[in-house]
Amino acid sequence: MATSKTFFSIFFILSISVFSIFSSLTVAEDSHFFHKTVSPKLLGLQKEKLSHLHFYFHDIVSGPKPTAVIVAQAQITKTSPTGFGSVTMADDPLTSGPELDSKLVGKAQGIYASASQDEVGLLMVLNFAFTEGIYNGSTLSVLGRNTVFSAVREISIVGGSGLFKFARGYAEAKTHTFDPKTGNAVVEYNVYVFHY
Ligand SMILES: *[C@@H]1O[C@H](CO)[C@@H](O)[C@H](O)[C@H]1NC(C)=O
Repeated sequence: MATSKTFFSIFFILSISVFSIFSSLTVAEDSHFFHKTVSPKLLGLQKEKLSHLHFYFHDIVSGPKPTAVIVAQAQITKTSPTGFGSVTMADDPLTSGPELDSKLVGKAQGIYASASQDEVGLLMVLNFAFTEGIYNGSTLSVLGRNTVFSAVREISIVGGSGLFKFARGYAEAKTHTFDPKTGNAVVEYNVYVFHY
């Protein structure tokens, strides 16, 4: 009787030790956690709000200081009525008013490419990198379709950084002026985004 009691005590103590060794191993592994649920407060996220931004986008493709340059095109681009296949890299100024010398609020940096053979339809993949006021250093990421000869185009905003973390929304683009001789354009943007 005494022997079996001792045996069970030893067994019990051993099990506890083995269990604690295993759980300490598990805890050690957890310090390299892969995923966990966190409170939005941990990232300083308060209530979600809707913001409206308004600015003008200057696409300068000719002259001594172009802000958008063709970086690639296909054999058929030159004969395509829609310029299908051309890829342009832009670093276009964003200003508060339609004049280029009005207040600079940021740059539109990225790519637009002619992605339609039936009309002039651009694939826009770029970031609005803001440099003014509280949004200085924050960005909005654009991934959308821009049929430039439509009166109003709706282009998706798929994310952002800085004050625009978790942003989503859309931009309404309206051509303000287009010079067919130079190809330069000024486009009015109204952007609506949900963010924190
Ligand atoms: C925006 O932030 C940069 C970097 O912190 C700073 O150098 C610049 O002066 C700021 N611009 C404005 C308009 O506040």
